[in-house]
Amino acid sequence: MPVSGQVPWSCEQHTVAKHDIYRRYLERWFPILLAGSNAYPSVTYAEGFSGPGIYSGGEHGSPVIAMRALIEKVPATKGVARFAFIDDDERCVTMLGDTLRAVFPNRPRSDAAMPVKIVKGTCATHLEATLDGMNAWGQPIFANLDSWGNVPVPYRLLQRLAANVSSEVIVTLFPQHFVRFVSSQGESADKVFGGDPTWRTVVDLAPAAKSRHILTAYRQALCKAGFPYLLDFELIPRKGQPLYLIFGTGHPLGVKKMKDSLWEVDRTQGVGFRDPRDEQAETLFDVDEPLLGPLTRLLARKLQESGPIRVEELRDFALFETVYRPEHVIRALKPLVDRGAIKVDGGGALRRSSLVSLVPASPPR
Ligand SMILES: C[S@@+](CC[C@H](N)C(=O)[O-])C[C@H]1O[C@@H](n2cnc3c(N)ncnc32)[C@H](O)[C@@H]1O
Repeated sequence: MPVSGQVPWSCEQHTVAKHDIYRRYLERWFPILLAGSNAYPSVTYAEGFSGPGIYSGGEHGSPVIAMRALIEKVPATKGVARFAFIDDDERCVTMLGDTLRAVFPNRPRSDAAMPVKIVKGTCATHLEATLDGMNAWGQPIFANLDSWGNVPVPYRLLQRLAANVSSEVIVTLFPQHFVRFVSSQGESADKVFGGDPTWRTVVDLAPAAKSRHILTAYRQALCKAGFPYLLDFELIPRKGQPLYLIFGTGHPLGVKKMKDSLWEVDRTQGVGFRDPRDEQAETLFDVDEPLLGPLTRLLARKLQESGPIRVEELRDFALFETVYRPEHVIRALKPLVDRGAIKVDGGGALRRSSLVSLVPASPPR
């Protein structure tokens, strides 16, 4: 769907935060995969919805951020880094070429060590073919699928990416798009969710539960496509619509690095983030003193389901099933211990090895 207004457009608050996350993650991803102890000979960074590379205020877009992460963080002698950029708006394609030439007039790598392809076409029809043409498969691919939130991405492509060595995706999703148009959307919308129509039960839900339902359905679709580790979160600007990002990877280290990137994001710009599973939808704005209330609630729910459990396992739960870091767990359990809602087996302080369980609520007198 070509851009309806002018190209380029202005850079919204949540876009700034999203770019900060891309940058921090890619500054880790490129060096680990191209210059780490188990480096690959080549990697590919691909975008199905690349945009023009620049915003109306001069801010750089994701293609520039990605190329800069490689150039600044990996010696030019290390491996091959391919870049594939697809966009179906002619203006974006032309402007992206101009922007990349202006920002990187002298690339430190030869074309063979850093091939860049900019293609006009849809993600559905051109991304996979472009990756074929660049011989990207069989080596790691990071696919950034940053559509307007309607995710016109073939499920088969997600499956192929999931099956490819050390490959990862990050997808932008606007649940409101699916909530609003559920009755008018035909089978093609089911394809976004891997052909599963369960997302359509959104019509029966209370308004507050709708977005979470769509996000859960997409999370399940990515998992079924073959990404065992997922991290999803909402970026909440003080003004404007929240933005959902879902990251899928085959490796726990990917989740850890993405989570580090998320927690390091500069929130002085007024963008917070939120765990989509927190029923009270509390936004985490403060960088220095993270609000642990949502994690305390999620841990209490987990303890209810699991029965007695080691803190170590709760740390894994926090890493893989919430937006929080493992380091937050003991602090988040503390209020539950203090009010007698959980007990520590054998007493004493909470440690990683402690076994904890919920104290059954006493019946009302
Ligand atoms: C959110 S913008 C991308 C922004 C860019 N990733 C960034 O962060 O700088 C979405 C882009 O997708 C393009 N687009 C929309 N539908 C598309 C489709 N089906 N296939 C390819 N590109 C599409 C639009 O032209 C627009 O440039």
